[in-house]
Amino acid sequence: MRLDKYLCETGFGTRSQVKALLKKGLVSVNGEPEKRPERKVDEHSDIISCGGKAAVYSEFIYLMLYKPAGVLTARSDRREWTVFDLILAELRRDLSPVGRLDKDTEGLLLLTDDGPLAHHLLSPRHHVEKVYFAQVRGELREADILSFQEGLDIGDERKTLPAKLEIQKSGAESEALVTLHEGRYHQVKRMFQAVGCEVLYLKRLSMGSLALDESLAPGEWRRLREEEIALLKKEEGSRDESGDTN
Ligand code: URA
Repeated sequence: MRLDKYLCETGFGTRSQVKALLKKGLVSVNGEPEKRPERKVDEHSDIISCGGKAAVYSEFIYLMLYKPAGVLTARSDRREWTVFDLILAELRRDLSPVGRLDKDTEGLLLLTDDGPLAHHLLSPRHHVEKVYFAQVRGELREADILSFQEGLDIGDERKTLPAKLEIQKSGAESEALVTLHEGRYHQVKRMFQAVGCEVLYLKRLSMGSLALDESLAPGEWRRLREEEIALLKKEEGSRDESGDTN
């Protein structure tokens, strides 16, 4: 789509008003100043701003961040880097991370200002599936698959909900995929601890239908594609229709 059309559609005025803004040098595409109204932009991947304000195409913003290890899932911190330090300043304002990853955990982190969707994904009632890859110190055995399936005592009031453990490598150090339907504090680490293993590396691969884009490098992010948003919304809608009131 042409840049001037894009700016009109995202609320920056009429074609002629938008042309004036472009002429004044107030518009940037992916951080670079742009004055040409006919410049073609991709409304799903290009980051466009006008007068320092993000020109956002949809009602809500949805970003997928490949959270690197070593940064906090927090808005700001005096001493440490946070996930917001990695996001383009114009887009930061109303976004919230959907759930937390520990400082040393990496992988998929969704950030959005779509409150109802975030609520759906995080609500314990909805049991949205999250998949993690873990490297652990200690041997994983067939019996552990059953323990994960039956629910583990990790020191909370209730045992964990049934979880799936898929062992990929077993030895002094082991590797596995874990699928959870809840999100308690340090849950994956505490589940492995409960079967005598220590997590050395943890990466979230997916949340509901949304999978980490492996073409992103740690620390990189992108806007969600329309079909990714549609799938998440569809999941949200189907829960609502099933009579779940939360
Ligand atoms: N479980 C953990 O132990 N840590 C995370 O960051 C996410 C899930």
